[in-house]
Parts: sequence; structure tokens; C-alpha cells
Amino acid sequence: MTFIPQEIIRKKRDGLELSEPDIRAMVRGITDGGAGEGQVAAFAMAVFFRGMTLSERITLTEAMRDSGRVLDWPSFGIARGVADKHSTGGVGDKVSLILGPLAAACGAFVPMISGRGLGHTGGTLDKFDAIPGYDTAPNLTTFAQVVRDAGCAIIGQTADLAPADRRLYAVRDVTATVESIDLITASILSKKLAAGLQGLVMDVKYGSGAFMENYDDARALAESIVTVATGAGVPTTALLTDMNEVLGDSVGNAVEVREAVDFLTGVHQEPRLSEVTLACTGELLVLSGAARDMEDAMRKMETALASGAAAERFGCMVAGLGGPADFLERAGEYLDFAPVKRLVYPARPGFITAMDSRAVGMALVAMGGGRTRADQAIDHAVGMTGFARIGEAVGPDQPLCTVLARDEGQADMAAERISAAVAIGDTRPAPRPVVRERITADGGGAS
Ligand code: URA
Repeated sequence: MTFIPQEIIRKKRDGLELSEPDIRAMVRGITDGGAGEGQVAAFAMAVFFRGMTLSERITLTEAMRDSGRVLDWPSFGIARGVADKHSTGGVGDKVSLILGPLAAACGAFVPMISGRGLGHTGGTLDKFDAIPGYDTAPNLTTFAQVVRDAGCAIIGQTADLAPADRRLYAVRDVTATVESIDLITASILSKKLAAGLQGLVMDVKYGSGAFMENYDDARALAESIVTVATGAGVPTTALLTDMNEVLGDSVGNAVEVREAVDFLTGVHQEPRLSEVTLACTGELLVLSGAARDMEDAMRKMETALASGAAAERFGCMVAGLGGPADFLERAGEYLDFAPVKRLVYPARPGFITAMDSRAVGMALVAMGGGRTRADQAIDHAVGMTGFARIGEAVGPDQPLCTVLARDEGQADMAAERISAAVAIGDTRPAPRPVVRERITADGGGAS
């Protein structure tokens, strides 16, 4: 059948439902160049304004998944238990670094394909780049080998997984069509489904540092992802988690790796980070069949952390992907930390009542620890540690955090931005839940 992109675009422009052959043809055109740049943009804009039915959304996701290679884990010797977690992105979000090895130590297999940070949210791959020798772009044989040996491997997007998304996303990025639930769902899930998963946990964040700031928007995205992924054959659960303040104690690349190692080795486990990590990992264990239910999952996770098995999986993954064999024991020596340490104090004493965590993320970008353009290099050594939480008392003896900067000027700039990002009041605000809601295909309710 002749491919006439403008006919498909016209149909969607006029609010009609696209057929499966229409959507598959459009995705083929996006992948092989049969659709020109203007046509891809017009298609994205038509979907943005007209939306898609559930069945169109599922077809778009499956067609984008099928635009490249789909991994088949049984052919790599892993028949069961393959699952992953995806986060919509946050500030200080190092959950993946802990979840992968923790889930592996409890019997799941986690082949995690992650991204780099852009704008205020940090990227998991950038954190692993802080580990000397760690290869985030291994060949498929090495990737599969590490997943088999360590139970988890965290690597970057490969060129042959969901190539339609790469082109469509690049066009959306410059045509104001990113913020479409239909397109975001297909974009995220096409990549995850191409990784050959048997279960998926979505950490959908809301609040000042989240991609979707508004709770209802985040919830709508979570519902869409759960319904479409389940419709495409991958059982999925979403958790709506709070991103109104940084997650954990640190923000940056090397500092977040250190926090993850400290968590896994039991040195320090910040409570909010712990809650999100255990909730996501527990869901993953149940979805993958490695645990019977959440209670069983909690027991397994406690044992894996207390026995050192989870930490050992982290070390095994790092070594398998080219990092130091003794990274776990000597992380502080292998990681590079910026030399200037500056304590940041609040403008006045009181309780932290709110935090603009997006502004905190942008302070890291301004220090060179994140990027605003996809091709920018970043400085893994800068960051912030010891972040105070909302509700904590701060003042002349209790700083907001410590900045790790390259020089005094950079420390001044970061301190000013962080201080401006934190609101101080006279009364302690009421505690907020970290995991606010759980969404399942059969309508699971509040957590
Ligand atoms: N992340 C993605 O991978 N795709 C989107 O469309 C938005 C966020």
C-alpha cells in the first residue's frame, strides 16, 4: 500500500481514529525517513491536539517498540523474572542505583536501559559515568552476560532499540509537542517494551522538581502508562511519589553514587529515599514473581540489605561493566569530589516549609553537574550533600546542605541559588506522604 503521510495526518487533524495500518505506516515512515521532518512534526501536533483512543495509544506504542530490535531474554538464558523500573525523573533520584542490585539479590533480573539527564533532572547514566571504567554502552553480549551474572545491568539506550522514538522525540523537543500524554506514554513504553520486560514499575513523580508538577497530570500519565503497558502484555504498576524536595541527602553525580553505595552497605539510609526505593523494588519483586506479595518482598529486601547480598550485586555489576573490582570497598577513593566544601545556611532560622527542587536541580546544572543541551559534557565531581528536609529546623548552626564546588566563585553562586530555593517559616509543616498513590490495571487505590 502506498504510504501517503498527509492523508494520515489529515485524518488525525480532523479528529478521526487512526487504524492500525495507518499508525504502523506512520511509524515506519518516521523510522525509515519516508515521512519528512515537517510531516513528523505535523503528526505530533495533530496527536497533541486531537489525542488518541486507548486502542490507538497501544498500537502506537507497539509499532514504536517494533521499529527496532526487541530483546528476547529467554534466548539469552533468562526465562523468567525479567522486570524493570522507570522514573519520570527527579532531583537527587538515585533509586535505580539501589533498586537494580537489591532486586537482583532477591531473585529478579533487571536489564535497565537508562537515560542521561537534561535540564533540572539528573540522569542515571551520568551517575554511572562518575565510576572510572564503567561502560554504559557495552555490546549486547556483555549486557546479557552481566544481567545473568549480577542479576542487573544498567546501561544506556542503544541505537537499535525503538529508533522511531529517537526521531519522533527529537522532533517533539523542538516543536512544543512533548507535553502530550499519548506521545509520552508511547515514547517511554516503546523503549521499555523493546527491552523485553515481563513486568514494569513506573515511578511517576509530581511536585516542584518533577516533569509533571501537577498531581492530576502525573496521575493521568500514570494511569495511561499502566493501561497501555498492560494492554501491550507487560503487567505494570505505577507509584505516584513526591518530588517537592530532593530525594535522599545528595544531588550530583559522584555524590549520588556514594549515597547509593552507603545505602546498600548500610552506612546510611535516608528515610524518604528508603521508602521510595523499597516501595518500587517491592512492586518489582511481586511483578517479576520473585516475591509472593509485598510482605514477602519486604522480608527478602531486608535480608538482602542486611546480609550484604545487595551491595555485592552492585559490585558485581560495576566490575562486569568495566569498573574497578573493589569499587564497593573503595568508592570514596575512586570517585572524584570537587575540592571546595561550602556549608549553605538559610536566610533566617526556622523550619523548612517548602523547597523548589527544580531550582536546586538548576543550581547543579549551573555548576556544570547537569546539562541544558543533549551534547554538553558535565562535571561529575560537583554537587551537594547533607540536604536538610522539609520540616527540619535550620539556622546558624544547622545548614541547608554542603556544596562541593570547583572554586569559591562557583560555591557562592550555588549557595545563593540553594538558599533562594528554600522557604523558611516559624511553624513546622505537617508531614506529607512520600508514596502517595498506587495505580494498577485493576484500579489499585491509595498506598
Ligand atoms: N521521557 C521520555 O522518554 N519520553 C517522553 O516523551 C517524555 C519523557
